[in-house]
Amino acid sequence: MNQEERIVSATARRDDLAEEVSLRPQRLAQYIGQEQLKDNLAIAIQAARARREPLDHVLFHGFPGLGKTTLAYIIAHEMEANIKVTSGPVIEKAGDLAAILTSLQEGDVLFIDEIHRLNHVIEEILYPAMEDFQLDLVIGQGPGAKSVKMNLPHFTLVGATTRTGLLTPPLRDRFGVLLRLEFYAPEELVAIVERSARLLGVKLDPEGALELGRRSRGTPRIANRLLKRVRDYAQVKADGLVNREVARQALKMLHVDELGLDDMDRRILLTIIDRFQGGPLGLDTLATAVCEERTTLEDVYEPFLIQSGFLFRTPRGRMATPAAYQHFGRAYPGHPPLEQPSLFD
Ligand code: ADE
Repeated sequence: MNQEERIVSATARRDDLAEEVSLRPQRLAQYIGQEQLKDNLAIAIQAARARREPLDHVLFHGFPGLGKTTLAYIIAHEMEANIKVTSGPVIEKAGDLAAILTSLQEGDVLFIDEIHRLNHVIEEILYPAMEDFQLDLVIGQGPGAKSVKMNLPHFTLVGATTRTGLLTPPLRDRFGVLLRLEFYAPEELVAIVERSARLLGVKLDPEGALELGRRSRGTPRIANRLLKRVRDYAQVKADGLVNREVARQALKMLHVDELGLDDMDRRILLTIIDRFQGGPLGLDTLATAVCEERTTLEDVYEPFLIQSGFLFRTPRGRMATPAAYQHFGRAYPGHPPLEQPSLFD
């Protein structure tokens, strides 16, 4: 494998957990949820196809597991284009990106996952590539350095990031289509696990599907992972059918609670409640206390805890909400009394 193959396939290989890939819908019409995003994307695709032009550059932002990579593949499929897949952290040198860009053909899709993690020097090579389909490279150093300009084929860059705020404004501004992925509603996750069960040949009844959909933290990747573990349980401990009871027992063994919280979610909330009197506490303190990376807390755990009303993010730090106390059967200490205005104010 040469250098370029290593870089473009690093993400693809990691994702090549064959089943996850096989569960991915290939067309927009098969994709469940994200209705508004799909409507906007469908129009952009239809218009570009009618003009016989490549699609404008697209930026997806959303938390991990919501479908950014799946949508990049769908774009390539719908545009009948080839896709090359890479990610920000694996592009280490300007030459790495130059090799990828020069290997593209007219109309290709280049997907850069975690695009916010591109190094800034490399990012600057993307600007003229995105805007004018030009590659500007400086080869060598000092007085002998030479500037090389090359035309690139018209390609579509699809970038994915967990938060647009992590992108530099010049990079963000060069995307024509900005699309945000939201957490999925339980009924959408039910439809997703039902579709996956059909593809995997898992017997899943509607109540079993509901149990999985409700406890998947709004995230298809988690729904599909739980489906596979529950399938194993049903095969070993029951007659293979995933019904409500089998799903409940299996999820209990997996330490996934009624609302879908897992061990780390519980550890985060109970650390705030029991060790820090409900907060507020800073993210770094919390990360150290639960032995997790700050960015993992921010991108993977917090969004769902905030969205489900268990965690507040305040200017002074993170706080557990009354709902979190209630979930763990703890009494909420309540707010300190408001300061009384002075009689002489
Ligand atoms: N598998 C994972 N995400 C999906 C989605 N949004 N629609 C259909 N199948 C999926």
